[in-house]
Amino acid sequence: MTTKSMAVIGAGTMGRGIAQVFAQSGYEVYMHDTVPAAIESATKTIGKLLNRAVEKERITADEAAATQKRIHAVPTLSDIGRHSLIVEAVIENPEIKIGLLQAAQPMVTDGGILASNTSSISITQLAAAVERPDRFIGMHFFNPVPVMKLVEVVRGLQTSDETVKQTIEIAEEVGKTPVECNDHPGFISNRVLMPMINEAVFALQEGVAEAEAIDEIMKLGMNHPMGPLALADLIGLDVCLFILEVLHRDLGEDRYRPCPLLRKMVMAKRLGRKSKHGFYRYD
Ligand code: 3HC
Repeated sequence: MTTKSMAVIGAGTMGRGIAQVFAQSGYEVYMHDTVPAAIESATKTIGKLLNRAVEKERITADEAAATQKRIHAVPTLSDIGRHSLIVEAVIENPEIKIGLLQAAQPMVTDGGILASNTSSISITQLAAAVERPDRFIGMHFFNPVPVMKLVEVVRGLQTSDETVKQTIEIAEEVGKTPVECNDHPGFISNRVLMPMINEAVFALQEGVAEAEAIDEIMKLGMNHPMGPLALADLIGLDVCLFILEVLHRDLGEDRYRPCPLLRKMVMAKRLGRKSKHGFYRYD
């Protein structure tokens, strides 16, 4: 049996989740981040989640240990090796993403796929910066990655049918449910989700209700697992703001204008769970 392998660039919230999902499905995973502390924290978090799965008797201790062993921390990008799939999951900054994608492209095997987990940067724009835009695709995972079933498979203008087909097969192989859409600002997920979050922030700013009440109304009335403000804290308020700015600029409609309170919170570095303070406190 041949060993399956892949690489993830970025060991943040999304990158570590993607690494865990592939390792649990038997892939040897090479996880790169330039910040050693990020890799260390990712390894610890994955270990904790695997231990929890053992406690809940979903996997055995041996399986947890084998999964953890399949994740290799790689501090230098050029050392990640060659793989048929490389997924980029770094900060939402086109210049940084393009730089890393260009550096990673020689490490994709012939016929392999280079993917981005971007939440809102144009796949067509990123694809235009690499040598094989036909082998480039959006593979958009959802937070928390080990729990959420969806992978939004985003087809750029030049993405080939074969790349889409293979990406769908890979997502299914690792237990996810892929759903295809075309490259357009915010794709489907964030074009629909972010206006709801933004509207909840406007309601809070205008004093229509307290944060807890806004979230409770959406949870109990709409059967959402968490309210929009708690969800914004989970995603990161800086990420929400960035996506809204993309929607506002690229779709050119006032209805996507980010709420001033959201801007203010990001300026104050109240970014949600990751800074332990957003619409709620996480002490
Ligand atoms: N990482 C890994 N697993 C996690 C987790 C995390 N951060 N948070 C919760 N979980 C797991 C728990 O371990 C638990 O698993 P278990 O059943 O094996 O014990 C399971 O999820 C349920 O967790 P809890 O019982 O603690 O809490 P809930 O039942 O309230 O579920 C939730 C938590 C899964 C986060 C749920 O509230 C939910 O689905 N929220 C909505 C999340 C969502 O909408 N995500 C999409 C965000 S948008 C996005 O990512 C796109 C981007 O582009 C912006």
